[in-house]
Amino acid sequence: MYNAGKIIALIVIFLALITSPFWYDFGKSSKAPKLEVGTQEKQCVESKAFMQANHMVLLDQWRDQVLRDGKRIYVSSTGKEYKMSLQNTCTKCHSSKTKFCDRCHNYLNVTPNCWDCHIAPKEQEQQAGRSEK
Ligand code: HEC
Ligand code: HEC
Ligand code: HEC
Repeated sequence: MYNAGKIIALIVIFLALITSPFWYDFGKSSKAPKLEVGTQEKQCVESKAFMQANHMVLLDQWRDQVLRDGKRIYVSSTGKEYKMSLQNTCTKCHSSKTKFCDRCHNYLNVTPNCWDCHIAPKEQEQQAGRSEK
């Protein structure tokens, strides 16, 4: 009896040890990803809360205004002016797509297709010759 108890205890400890990486990963993956904002600036185009909830909508509006209305300047709620451009404005501050946009999107399983056409920050350096829009 005494030995059986000891063996069970050892098995329990053994199982806890070999499965611990999974528990560790489990804890980690349920935690929000660490984002690198990528700039010394303190403020986004709009408030952080607004951006978290609405950056996709804002980007859609920017695209429509540029492409349909030929308007290129966005005036923020604080009166600051920004050029409405994904690859020349957002990524100017958010200088790492992978450590910012992707990290959050991957975590949430969102895959915007924008970068099929738009140039992400890294590629931008390699294709410096491409005309600014
Ligand atoms: C099939 C290619 C393609 C895809 C995919 C695409 N775009 Fe574009 N987008 C363009 C082109 C071409 C322009 C016009 C460029 C210009 O005139 O400045 C443009 C312009 C824009 C503009 C305004 C100008 C600028 O420099 O940014 C915004 C904002 C924009 N797109 C956002 C997005 C977002 C957000 C996504 C993803 C949801 C996206 N686009 C996906 C091709 C694409
Ligand atoms: C002038 C620099 C600047 C520009 C341009 C800019 N951002 Fe930001 N963004 C920031 C800063 C700084 C923060 C962090 C703000 C804070 O912590 O209060 C931020 C925060 C965010 C957040 C929330 C991140 C989080 O931690 O939850 C999102 C999403 C975001 N930006 C998307 C965008 C998009 C999309 C664009 C283009 C439409 C853009 N940003 C343009 C500087 C910028
Ligand atoms: C703090 C987390 C976070 C960050 C950082 C972030 N996003 Fe998002 N993004 C989201 C969420 C959440 C959604 C999905 C919203 C939905 O499904 O309604 C989303 C959706 C989008 C969409 C629409 C995609 C679609 O298929 O509808 C675009 C475009 C987009 N993000 C662009 C960006 C860009 C560009 C950056 C970096 C400059 C960025 N996001 C950074 C959380 C984030």
